[in-house]
Amino acid sequence: AAYDAGEYDSFMYKEMLEQPAAAERVLRGRLDERFGTAHLGGLNMDPRETRAIRRVKILGCGSAYYVGQMGAALLEELARIPADAEAASEFRYRNPVIEPDTLYVAVSQSGETIDTLLAVQEVRRKGGRVVGLVNVVGSAIARECDGGIYLHAGPEVAVASTKALTNMFLGFALLALQLGRVRDLSIADGKRLIEGLSRIPGQIAQILEREDELAEVATRLAESESLFFIGRVRGFPAAREGAQKFKEISYRHAEAYQTSELKHGPLALISEAVPTVAVVPDDELTSRNVGALHEIAARRGPLVVVTHEGVDLGEVAAVRIDVPRNERELDPILLTVPLQMLAYHAALHLGHDIDKPRNLAKSVTVE
Ligand code: G6P
Repeated sequence: AAYDAGEYDSFMYKEMLEQPAAAERVLRGRLDERFGTAHLGGLNMDPRETRAIRRVKILGCGSAYYVGQMGAALLEELARIPADAEAASEFRYRNPVIEPDTLYVAVSQSGETIDTLLAVQEVRRKGGRVVGLVNVVGSAIARECDGGIYLHAGPEVAVASTKALTNMFLGFALLALQLGRVRDLSIADGKRLIEGLSRIPGQIAQILEREDELAEVATRLAESESLFFIGRVRGFPAAREGAQKFKEISYRHAEAYQTSELKHGPLALISEAVPTVAVVPDDELTSRNVGALHEIAARRGPLVVVTHEGVDLGEVAAVRIDVPRNERELDPILLTVPLQMLAYHAALHLGHDIDKPRNLAKSVTVE
């Protein structure tokens, strides 16, 4: 084949390792250090049109939907525009109100996912403006949009998305930077984020280098029939993506929950047999998150904590995975990368077909 996994056991593994190089490509030529902004010529929007945007609605399926939630948070934080993500597969069935001052963003690796394509068509039929964050050049969704940001991740074959997802996040960061800078984001904040973005590829590489340690944790997690992935605010979409990947390829029941909602239900299920992977970045919620870890530990729930160096987990017995520090807004992607490795090594340990999990397709092109 023209494109094969070569020396690697699977495409997913190869594609995970390609992330630093892929991340460089999505950023290349798009960062303007002088003005602390991003150049996104493909959006086809002038500053006046950009300023007129009052709201952003992000549409995608599966991992693209979860990364859309990360994107919405970036847009709200950096550009102060109300933003949210919705599963594209649901969108058109609720007869959505399409507003002229809303920017719709379609997110898709393949550019062929039928639910996302039909959502884009629904918006355009009602006169809305859609831009795409798409990997495959010239794909159906890319062609249907008014403009967009190509992700330049290169071909992605494994059903479980890794490098495309990382580049989707970076694409959102670029979009938020550009929208932010025509609104209220200061030049200093713009430069701060550019500096942070340029460090991301190297930091992803640092996480990937810790494969052995992550493999050991994954092997232990793979023994459990059921797991929780928890996080809140910036950490929650990462937990959702982590759970999704884990269930897709390891076939274990992996459920994502907001850490804050644990006590409103799932705490009843925590026991020695049900491990929790907790996403606990160093942010304004760290101490509350650590409080929740205590609740889990008190019920003898095994804990794996994805966090930053220096975060004090108190007396909680946990396996910790420290990710490198960057600007807080960019944390979600660095918190997600170790979760990919956990899913991959759990599936490998269990002997599953990593690239072609049962019942799933790389892109779902029929309704
Ligand atoms: C399928 C795949 C998922 C993917 C989703 C969206 O369900 O199994 O891994 O996230 O489609 O695909 P897209 O190509 O639109 O990003």
